[in-house]
Amino acid sequence: MIQTVSTRPFDGQRPGTSGLRKKVTVFQQPHYLENFVQALFDILPVEVGPLAGQTLVVGGDGRFHNRVAVQTILKMAAANGIGRVMVGRGGLLSTPAASAVIRKHGAYGGIILSASHNPGGPDGDFGIKYNIANGGPAPEKITEALYARTRDITEYRTLDGAADLDLDTLGTTTLAGMTVEVIDPVADYAELMEKLFDFDAMRAWFARGGRMRMDSMCAISGPYARAVIEGLLGAPAGTVVNGEPLEDFGGHHPDPNPAHATELIAAMSGAGAPDFGAASDGDADRNMILGRDFVVTPSDSLALLAAHATKVPGYREGLAGIARSMPTSQAADVVAQALGIPAWETPTGWKFFGNLLDAGKATLCGEESYGTGSNHVREKDGLWAILFWLNLLAATGESVESLVRAHWKRFGRHYYSRHDWEGIPTERADALMAALRAQLPTLAGQRFGALEIAQADDFSYTDPVDGSVSSRQGVRLILAGCSRVVFRLSGTGTEGATLRVYLERFEPADGDHDRPTQDALADLIALADTVAAIRERSGQTAPTVIT
Ligand code: G6P
Ligand code: ZN
Repeated sequence: MIQTVSTRPFDGQRPGTSGLRKKVTVFQQPHYLENFVQALFDILPVEVGPLAGQTLVVGGDGRFHNRVAVQTILKMAAANGIGRVMVGRGGLLSTPAASAVIRKHGAYGGIILSASHNPGGPDGDFGIKYNIANGGPAPEKITEALYARTRDITEYRTLDGAADLDLDTLGTTTLAGMTVEVIDPVADYAELMEKLFDFDAMRAWFARGGRMRMDSMCAISGPYARAVIEGLLGAPAGTVVNGEPLEDFGGHHPDPNPAHATELIAAMSGAGAPDFGAASDGDADRNMILGRDFVVTPSDSLALLAAHATKVPGYREGLAGIARSMPTSQAADVVAQALGIPAWETPTGWKFFGNLLDAGKATLCGEESYGTGSNHVREKDGLWAILFWLNLLAATGESVESLVRAHWKRFGRHYYSRHDWEGIPTERADALMAALRAQLPTLAGQRFGALEIAQADDFSYTDPVDGSVSSRQGVRLILAGCSRVVFRLSGTGTEGATLRVYLERFEPADGDHDRPTQDALADLIALADTVAAIRERSGQTAPTVIT
């Protein structure tokens, strides 16, 4: 039944920040997905160890093309000698749940189908990424070997004439000698959440009349949020909105940030609004946290969860350390210092946290891009972060806003914003970054109005566990008083280039915490434009997204 199909390499199959992401139409080309999957199966025995008889976890966020891709992967897995595949019912698994399943069942690794927060549907995006046995994204050594293999691939293995498997019924079948287990995509994950959080306290919060609005944005967090929040925690039906995963996310951009979760922001404003608002993205690894008329920045969220971690059962013993990506604000560092634990600064990309978590050097991790997580899995985890907040609301009796304001009063406030300039032609964006890098030797000491650049560099990271070095990770302008402006190009876009400009200004504990963020950052915004000549070089007049 095994069939060997000849093929030719496709250009551009290098995995980005989080796997290979392309338009659905690109993935629909004959052999495109097959080449990538075979390249993976070809390099894994060399990079990791024999595949024969191993267990793989497979699932995705349910976007358009998910089902087709799962069937293709199952046949190829069987033809490549995999012993067992655990696949979520309907081909579904959120990214954090896939990580949890890999870990719990000691799998060899997993294939996750998702383009995260990118729009879906026939004209939208699709993606595929590989996670290793610790449940986290494959390190660069593997993704680079995979990419190299896609450049010289000549054939792939699949099954000849095998019928598609029924993915909608729980249970075990076989496919050409390989065991296929269709599993409940929620069960293992929900069980893990029950171990980490105080479900009794959260149930009591709802019973006392606490009101929440969880917006699943028509994506994969819906079934998880319904099972946990409305099911196990007894929140009223309707607490989870947009909870039915749709192949095109209802035509929306399933990215929980102020630019795309406008419906939730509107619902959270005014006296009648719920106490707690939250949203998650396409594959349920991102989170946004809101109070009534109050939006929490992801950087503040990480710092606050760290400061209160011992109030939550799973973290009662304290934290080993806190890790954040470089562009994320330094709010978490201030907390780490107060707790007397290490603060780690890594490049953008969740995979960089993996070694720190495996080595027990960090417990909580977070990124400005609405990602927060811990050592419970090796992915960021949207619903986990939301339950962490809910547990804190229940344990303290405080509101979201009062918790954040008290945090600022104790640690100071890091005013923070990210300006995205999307759809810049790649050559222009590259030229902008090159010009910025060329200025690095002369920027320190330069003054812009009241601001003085104290240090300017291109962030480079040496992994403290394996010693690997990742350079050119973003240009940093560090100003007197801990303010920062950071520039980097996104590694996750699929059209042109996106310039991200990260802006941060520290206001001490006794300072003014009530200014509108964009006002508080105005001089830094002006400085960024002057130094990088953003308008002139991008050909655009304003950022397309401000978070
Ligand atoms: C994904 C990754 C994150 C990363 C984010 C933004 O969500 O998992 O680790 O922070 O994309 O990446 P980008 O390269 O687009 O700024
Ligand atoms: Zn995501």
